[in-house]
Amino acid sequence: MGETVFGLSGRRSGQTVLLLKDMLPMRRLSFSILLASAVLASASVRSAEAELGTDLMQAVDDSNKSLASNIAQKDAKGSISDAKDINQAFIQVEAFFAAKPDAHDAVELSRKTRELTDVIVKAVGEGRFDAAQDFATELSRTCRTCHTFYKKS
Ligand code: HEC
Repeated sequence: MGETVFGLSGRRSGQTVLLLKDMLPMRRLSFSILLASAVLASASVRSAEAELGTDLMQAVDDSNKSLASNIAQKDAKGSISDAKDINQAFIQVEAFFAAKPDAHDAVELSRKTRELTDVIVKAVGEGRFDAAQDFATELSRTCRTCHTFYKKS
């Protein structure tokens, strides 16, 4: 019993000492982490402009418009081809954002985009153009969500 109390208070004061000892260097450390991530963040915004480029997104934009009209016209072959083009493009977009430190949401949105193109291909393949239309609407919403957070202009 007496031993337990001693053990407890011993551990407690041990922790207190440890905390006090680490307080200052820890504060300095978290400040430099803050600085480092601020530098990284501005670097990643710059490289997003430099590397992702507008060509890929322009092609995605063309495919997305074509997809909407092909679904409306119940053109299965055209719809599937457009959905697959978008899917391929977002393998690259996902890889691009996966290499960045603070772009977790963009990675998720790229995956969501690819999942939506998969279900569009499936729905169209089964002749369910109304469902495909709904997924296409959701797809365009996903484009806008990502642009809100990751596109500069
Ligand atoms: C995961 C994030 C993300 C998703 C999802 C996304 N985009 Fe983008 N998009 C961007 C970023 C970032 C830019 C800015 C690229 C740049 O300026 O270099 C951009 C730029 C664009 C542009 C402008 C290109 C230009 O010439 O300036 C268009 C058009 C575009 N996207 C269309 C789409 C469409 C259509 C979809 C959905 C099918 C989509 N995007 C989904 C991130 C995304």
